Amino acid sequence: RLTALIAASVGKDGYRHYMEKELHEHPVVIGQTLQRLIDPATRRVVMPDLPFDLAAVQRVVLTACGSAFYAGMIGRYWIEQYARLPVDIDVASEMRYRNPPLTRGGLGLLISQSGETADTLAALRGMREAGQHIVSVLNVEQSTMARESDAVLGTVAGPEISVASTKAFTAQLSVLACLTIALGRARGLIGPAQEESMVTNLLDLPSKATEVFERHDEIRRMATIVADARDVLYLGRGAMFPVALEGALKLKEITYIHAEAYAAGEMKHGPISLIDNTVPVVATVPSGPLFEKTLSNLQEARARGGRLLVFTDMAGAPRLREIAECVVAIPTVDEFVAPILQTIPVQILAYEVALLKGTDVDQPRNLAKSVTVE
Ligand code: G6P
Repeated sequence: RLTALIAASVGKDGYRHYMEKELHEHPVVIGQTLQRLIDPATRRVVMPDLPFDLAAVQRVVLTACGSAFYAGMIGRYWIEQYARLPVDIDVASEMRYRNPPLTRGGLGLLISQSGETADTLAALRGMREAGQHIVSVLNVEQSTMARESDAVLGTVAGPEISVASTKAFTAQLSVLACLTIALGRARGLIGPAQEESMVTNLLDLPSKATEVFERHDEIRRMATIVADARDVLYLGRGAMFPVALEGALKLKEITYIHAEAYAAGEMKHGPISLIDNTVPVVATVPSGPLFEKTLSNLQEARARGGRLLVFTDMAGAPRLREIAECVVAIPTVDEFVAPILQTIPVQILAYEVALLKGTDVDQPRNLAKSVTVE
């Protein structure tokens, strides 16, 4: 009911659906969220006061549900790579019953748009009992999870009405990127020059995100192929694997087309048997250290008749155009921030397919915006 009330007061601002409006809010939401955690003058991350010492954290345990969980998976890649901290991650519905052995004084990190998801809240309480410092990345800062956390890192996404999450996801990633820098700095692994460069890459994102919308026609062309499919395979490697998971989830949620996401290197261990010309392969492959490896996975799919629909960046596009049927090339950015930017066209694709299918985009069947039951 609350969501309905907020929806009534928010309005669609001339867009056809809340989802369309919220997709267009990505640039501004990323900018607003970063503004809270970055001092643009010094190009440094400024964390709110925390009731514990980040430098003393030896381990992170991370949990969430749905899209927020995929944001958390990207956070794990970052925290492990740049802050060299071990991260245990699981969906909250598993984490709450796993009762993993935790050393007191670790960081319990929760991610939730609503701050009310029952499983995430239960996992938070379990982590608290196990002596973790509780930090929650939340969009609704007056939520139950906010009240039960030691610290809240807010995503400044504004109300998200569409059941399928979009802008909250890039806002969550913006917060996790800043937290990664803070952890890396606290542990003496990110020096001033590296921090300045990482922060600059983050601050460039809103304008680059705006440029993604210039690729709308190519995404629409891709959507016509996906809309005719019964099954779709999404692929990505490294931090692009969770982007693929998010893309497949979004497609399932709002178009009811069966989609599965795989780590590209895992394709040969099963899903490759599915590939023929009726199963489009949607891959996210920006330039960077994992480009060649993922390219060779795509060549294997192509050799088996797979139709390749690829999201990449300007630097990666020429090589991919040789093998793919559709290529959407967005601005080339540093490897660190690439998952934030690459998420946007993948979400737009799901929206465009939903338009072609004529589904109820904002209120997909059987789904709720906030799941407060187990
Ligand atoms: C529901 C929504 C998803 C969302 C998930 C987690 O399933 O349909 O879009 O990702 O809950 O919600 P939260 O509010 O915890 O981020």
